[in-house]
Formats: sequence, structure tokens, C-alpha cells
Amino acid sequence: MTDVINDPQPFRNNAPLQLDRAVGWDYFTAPGEVYERDGAYYLTSIEAIRFAHQHPEVFSSAKAFDSLGSPVPLIPIAIDPPQQIRYRRILDPMFAPRVVTPLEPELRRQVREIIEAFAAKGECEVIRDLGSLYPTGVILTLFGMPLKDRDTFIEWSEAIIETSGKNAASDMSQAQMEAAMNLFGYLQGYITEKRANPGNDSLSAVLALSGDDAWTDEEVLGLCFLFVIAGLDTVTAAISYLMYHLAIRPDLQRAIKETPDLGAKVIEEVLRLELPAPLTPRVTLSDTEVCGVKIPAGAFTFLVLGAANREDRPIPDDIDVENADRGHLTFGGGVHRCMGSHLARRELKLMLEEFLALIPEFSLAPGTQPVCKWPGGTLHLESVNLVWNTGAAQ
Ligand code: HEM
Repeated sequence: MTDVINDPQPFRNNAPLQLDRAVGWDYFTAPGEVYERDGAYYLTSIEAIRFAHQHPEVFSSAKAFDSLGSPVPLIPIAIDPPQQIRYRRILDPMFAPRVVTPLEPELRRQVREIIEAFAAKGECEVIRDLGSLYPTGVILTLFGMPLKDRDTFIEWSEAIIETSGKNAASDMSQAQMEAAMNLFGYLQGYITEKRANPGNDSLSAVLALSGDDAWTDEEVLGLCFLFVIAGLDTVTAAISYLMYHLAIRPDLQRAIKETPDLGAKVIEEVLRLELPAPLTPRVTLSDTEVCGVKIPAGAFTFLVLGAANREDRPIPDDIDVENADRGHLTFGGGVHRCMGSHLARRELKLMLEEFLALIPEFSLAPGTQPVCKWPGGTLHLESVNLVWNTGAAQ
């Protein structure tokens, strides 16, 4: 049962998420709030997912990530409490808003430069020209690594992320294995360098821990590797969804320009509707019961965050700025709640402000229909082609 993540999952894989996520989440909600399909359990209601989040001693992340066969410990996502809590206590302050805020001018400069490179062309493909470049630059900045390495870093990380979507290390092609080894070598080089010459960055802060709190190189490598898996294509996906929704809603583009505070609400709603990581995995460590349904020990379980995000909403399947502050489960919950949520929101906000400042009006390229890649790791649009009148670009 614990190997279900590597087994074919026809029910999950057949979900119709490609064209319209609302249809996809209905598919998951229709059988109920807790049910079993193809040997895996699905939790789709807020109550059921909260129960799993509140009981990590039953719903193990460590067991769920075992089958990924990562060569380094994926800290802290593949670790269960109490060890995971110890890691988070150390890590949370290093990624808190007070650390992210001082980086803002540099992150704004980076995204402006990226948008300036295509603003005069009157067209872009969001993922290629913006969505993959920006989050990678942000992680390099956060870890004090040089921006000039961005393109190489993207090449390696894309190969690895593709592999993580396929789940089993044995699925890696030779080229992908080489990319992973190159990335490990690169990261290890920086770990060694920063142990000797610490900088004013989050990676140096982790390496500076001493005594009982000190981390081994393997632990730091695991953390860096997880950031590549968790913090790059999730933001890329979120950028592409945001730009897609704005492209088909010129009224929202205008409204945000008139009332800039609205931008944060639209971002929150797009995050609620379009989840880059919509199904999070767990394995039960003991027999349990959720919302009246018995789940045996050793059961692979999916928390279907995308379905729960539409529950009890007046406008479940569309942007609803009036209710944007009601919260959602896009960043998970409980002990494993996303560590990068502040950073991700900041990246989206800066990107949106700079995009609208340089390109005030845009739309989807005629004849294009963005489609999600599914099944796969991160749920993302494969491409989003935008066009605008260059007279309108600043
Ligand atoms: C829109 C962008 C993002 C989304 C939707 C997202 C979503 C999530 C979700 C759902 C989880 C919980 C996984 C689980 O419960 O198994 C998670 C965990 C995590 N995320 Fe994010 N994430 C995003 C961006 C980021 C960024 C930018 C970073 C880092 C810079 C990051 C780092 C992490 C880490 C380290 C964890 C593991 C936390 C733990 O296990 O204690 N994420 N993320």
C-alpha cells in the first residue's frame, strides 16, 4: 500500500483537469468527502483535510515521500514530527516576512528587468519569458548564489522537477540523472564555500547553526534540493495562472490599475482556484476514521486541497474579490504548511505591479487556449501566450 505513489493511479490520473479545473475538482468531490479508489484514499472536504493536518502522527509525510527515492533527505517535507518540528523551529524565522521584506527592492529590480526584455515586442509566452526565470532568480538571491548561474540552474532544476513528477528515481533518464548530479555538485560547492565564508543570506544562516542545532552537509543539501522542488515550479505555475486569468478579464486589469490594493485580493483568489500543488500525499501509520469512513494503517492518502478550496463559497469557481480574505488551503496546513508562502505571495505581488506598470493592457494571443499538463507533478499551464499593443507598453 505504501508504494501506491509509484503504482498507476487511474482515478487520479483520469481527472479532467486539463481545460477547466472546476470540472476536475467536481470529479474529485462527486464520490464524497472521504473514499477509496484504486487502493488510495481521497480526502476532499475541509473537515477531512483539517483532520489529517491536525494528526501528523497518523498521516505521515515521511512514509509518503519514502517512495520518491530521493538521494538526500527532503527536509522538512519528508520528515515527521517531532524531528520535523525541530527543523521548522530553526527554519521558519529564516523565511519569515522580516527576512523577505529587505530583499524586495532587489526582487523588484529582477522582475522589472525580465519584463523589460519583452515589453516592446508586444507578445510573450509567460512560462518561458517570465515564469521560470523569476522564481529561480529569487531562490538564488535568497541563498546568496550568483544570478549569472540562473540559466544553468533552470536547466538542471527543470530536469529534476520533471523527474519528481514521475515519482520514481528509476524513471530518471541518463540526461536527468546527469542534471541532478550537476545540481548536487553545484549546491555542495556553495555549501562548502559558505561554511568557510558566510554571507548575509538564509543558506549562510542555516550553516552558521552550532551545537545541537548544527546541520550536516547532507541535511543542508536536502533542504536546498527541496527548495528547488518546492519553490520554483510552484511559483512558475502561479504566475502563469495569474496572467491567464487577468488576460481573459480586462475588467480586472483596469480595476487593479485604479485600485492597486485589489491586486493582492485577485492573487489570493487565483491561488484559491488554481493550485500548483493540489493533491498532497500522506500514508496512514495506524487505523483511523475520518468523517465516519474507516481508513486502514498503511493507506496511501491524497489530501485534495483543490476540491476543499471551493467548499461553502458563494462563487466557488470564479474570482470573488469580496471573499478573498476567507482563507484557503493552497499552501497546505498543519505542521507542514508551506514555508515559502510569504515569499511566493511577495513574488506574485511584485511581478503583477511591474507587469501592469510596463504593459497596462494585454490579452491571450488569438487562437490560443492554455491547457494544464495532467497527470504530472506540479499542476501548471503548459504555455500562456499573451499579446498587447506596443503603443500601450511603457
Ligand atoms: C504558489 C507557490 C507555492 C505553493 C502553491 C506551495 C504549496 C505548498 C504546499 C501545499 C505545501 C504542503 C505540502 C504538504 O502538506 O505535504 C508546501 C510545503 C512547502 N513549501 Fe511551498 N508552495 C509554494 C511556494 C513555495 C516557495 C516559494 C518555497 C520556498 C522558497 C516553498 C517551500 C516549501 C517547503 C520547504 C515546504 C515543506 C514544509 C514542511 O514540510 O514543513 N514553497 N508548499
